[in-house]
Amino acid sequence: MQIEVSQKPKSEIAADIEIVCVVAKDFDHPWIEERELLELSGFEGGQDETSLLPEKRRLYVGSDSLHHDDIRSAFAAAIRALRKTKAEHVKTGLYLGKCSAQNVKAMAEGMIFGDYDYDPYKSEKAKHPVKKVTISTEDFNGKSIDPQKAAGYVESAAIVAHATNYTRSIVNTPPDDMTPEMLALKAVSLAEENGLECIVLDEKGLEAEKMGAFLAVSRASDHPPRLVHLAYRPENPKYRVALVGKGLTYDSGGLSLKPAEYMVTMKSDKAGACAVLGIMKAVSELKLPIEVHGIVGATENMIGGNAYKPDDILTAKNGKTIEIRNTDAEGRLVLADCLCYAQEKVAPDYLLDFATLTGACVVALGEYTTGLMGHDRALKHSFSKAAANAGELTGTLPFNRYLKKLIKSDVADVCNISSTRYGGALTAALFLDHFIEKEYKHKWLHLDIAGPAYVEKAWGYNPAGASGAGVRMTVKWFEQILKQAEKEEK
Ligand code: BES
Ligand code: ZN
Ligand code: ZN
Repeated sequence: MQIEVSQKPKSEIAADIEIVCVVAKDFDHPWIEERELLELSGFEGGQDETSLLPEKRRLYVGSDSLHHDDIRSAFAAAIRALRKTKAEHVKTGLYLGKCSAQNVKAMAEGMIFGDYDYDPYKSEKAKHPVKKVTISTEDFNGKSIDPQKAAGYVESAAIVAHATNYTRSIVNTPPDDMTPEMLALKAVSLAEENGLECIVLDEKGLEAEKMGAFLAVSRASDHPPRLVHLAYRPENPKYRVALVGKGLTYDSGGLSLKPAEYMVTMKSDKAGACAVLGIMKAVSELKLPIEVHGIVGATENMIGGNAYKPDDILTAKNGKTIEIRNTDAEGRLVLADCLCYAQEKVAPDYLLDFATLTGACVVALGEYTTGLMGHDRALKHSFSKAAANAGELTGTLPFNRYLKKLIKSDVADVCNISSTRYGGALTAALFLDHFIEKEYKHKWLHLDIAGPAYVEKAWGYNPAGASGAGVRMTVKWFEQILKQAEKEEK
């Protein structure tokens, strides 16, 4: 689907169908020309509700407001509705809100999301009739916009939306087809296509790096583990950022085996790693002046005669010892070694990790919200603002000194699970904190995406399955810190 911007008024653009939004149920707006027909069809103008009037060559869609996320959702619903038609060329006007850039981007993103399906394993493929969308710069409220700028917004939104869909598809790939080796190969292809540096470590490499925690998790799998280190190095970067992703291509729980119902969907336990790949794709295509390193720990957590066990004591890369009391708390072990690696090799200004880390985070915030944790209030605040502007939900969970004591071990430096059943998202994050060196404490942000990364029912413009959680918010945050840097330079 190609999206272009035109300076022509809507009426002068030839297309098969026009998408018209009914905003806040305001049927008196001059753009709503078929009020009676719409009423007759039973259309009430609710958010994402659609009504196709083919003889008028119009598709109406409801949007609760001009808030960017309502617009994103409405345009996704519109394209989804048009997929049942044979409309190839679609036109629409602009629906600008408070921030013009944000709404232009939301329209483009929404349409690309509405066109997304994961169907490589289906004999009957989904239809994508819409080949071209022309957005007229004529605005719903008569606002004006520089057409060149609008085209630029569409272009960057398309990059971010396609990177999100790229992340979704890797997460959706079944575990036997997206093994740690395959995930590493995906990263290698991305590096080749986008001109990134790429280092892949195998078991020997992990041993050389003394990654005893990561290696223990991977031991019972027939598929060997991989650590991937991608780097995007633009000229004169304003910041250096390291992104670490949990890449459990399957989490059976290990010897602390998951019950059958909980094991289904655990192919999604690699979503943190896939988000990191999607972000690397987006930043390199947007050519942002930030040096970004993507570090992914890819492995399976399986059972077998050589599986790591509850009661084992592991030694992580930084020399800390870890008492294992539950082999299903494996993500934090992989992340511990990867976080040490990121600090040692990258020495970043910011260190972010992405992980489907705990069911407790989903209990705390619900399925649609990412848990944000870290020591730095300003960093958490700036990131959550960026996420909201990108149309992703976050909730900040606060550390406290009592929680810290819950992961103490009698026999090792730290225990991999908490001694109580409460606050599991936080105690997991505080476990990771043991692997953050002093100088990085305020540079570190932990994102638990266990809820939003994979939801079995469609929600808003997100399809059933993987959502690509983490990609949009992080790209938006990058843009935000770049603006901040620009201001400071002045
Ligand atoms: N991958 C899971 C967390 C998870 C749960 C992700 C649900 C997505 C949806 C993680 O490895 C895990 O199993 N965590 C345990 C930790 C517990 C043993 C302390 C959990 O959340 O139950
Ligand atoms: Zn687990
Ligand atoms: Zn896991």
